[in-house]
Amino acid sequence: DKGPYPYYMLKEVDEQPNVMRKLASIYTEETGKDNLDPEMIDAIKNADRIHIVGAGTSYHAGLVGKKMFEKLTHIPTEVHVASEFAYDDPLLTKNPFFIFLSQSGETADSREVLVNVNARGFKSLTITNVANSTLSREANYTLLLHAGPEISVASTKAYTAQIAVEAILAKSVGVAKEQVIAEDFDVRQQLGLAATGMQAIIDEKDEIEKLAKEYFVNATRAFYIGRGIDQTVSLEAALKLKEISYVQAEGFASGELKHGTIALIEEGTPVVGIITQVKTAGLTRSNLQETLSRGANILTIVRSGLSKEDDTIVVPDIDEMITPLLSVIPAQLLAYYTSLNKGLDVDRPRNLAKSVTVE
Ligand code: M6R
Repeated sequence: DKGPYPYYMLKEVDEQPNVMRKLASIYTEETGKDNLDPEMIDAIKNADRIHIVGAGTSYHAGLVGKKMFEKLTHIPTEVHVASEFAYDDPLLTKNPFFIFLSQSGETADSREVLVNVNARGFKSLTITNVANSTLSREANYTLLLHAGPEISVASTKAYTAQIAVEAILAKSVGVAKEQVIAEDFDVRQQLGLAATGMQAIIDEKDEIEKLAKEYFVNATRAFYIGRGIDQTVSLEAALKLKEISYVQAEGFASGELKHGTIALIEEGTPVVGIITQVKTAGLTRSNLQETLSRGANILTIVRSGLSKEDDTIVVPDIDEMITPLLSVIPAQLLAYYTSLNKGLDVDRPRNLAKSVTVE
């Protein structure tokens, strides 16, 4: 039931702070310990590679996961688009561990990979929102997203829940490997900050609606740009805009624009810079300036510690590793309000189904 909400998507965006709190309380303890299966943690700890597999938004959550796993566990991690990996005949190491990310647990492209993984006797974990789904039954281990049913075709709370569960898991494996950086990462506290930060952004939704009307409703194309973890969020932000508002959008590595794609910038093209990382903030700002001087209408989504006076949307401070939990929220809302103000069916965009059970 959508209750007072016009569309499920807005309800699901609004539910994200609670999902963060729920995941912190289900999977972590105040003492700093977690409630994850020690046998599973051991299996990941002993792996020489982690492979994360997903499609669409789940793939994008995997890109964020890679950064956390490599930083906190020091295990080399690769992320794969399921439909590509299934038929790639990849070169594998001796002891890989596979993590499947899937909101529905039914995505056929991901299942095809899992069937191969099982045939070769490799260990796997499915992180999903649906208990007893195909992917959770067929993997060795399962973790639930506890996000509650996600009805809108555009995935929102599953993305942030996937990132939160990956953070909890990466910390746990890192601690098992006695990595100081993992021991110092207080994931429970950070998820609390994420919840409060999300709420603060959601409370500004009227402002975000104004921006959607001003910048996107009449646009035919748009760009989200960033570097590193911000680039991964730019992919998700662009996907949201494309799938529900039909604005052709690209998520792009901000430094790569000048190598060709900047030719697409014309008078009025909206370009959103995502800026949450100390190391790359200045660089992305100068890349934004490059688009501004070609006529772009620029906006920024910036982490508060790095913000300047004329930034458009400032998101609260949080550990640099999990900034996507906050930087994605304005992008979800911009997509939502663009679709709404174009009079489209936000929850059921054309040509799409909620769960994709064909390859
Ligand atoms: O259920 P899954 O997470 O496996 O689904 C994967 C994609 O089909 C899904 O994330 C899709 O990209 C969403 N509609 C994006 O909003």
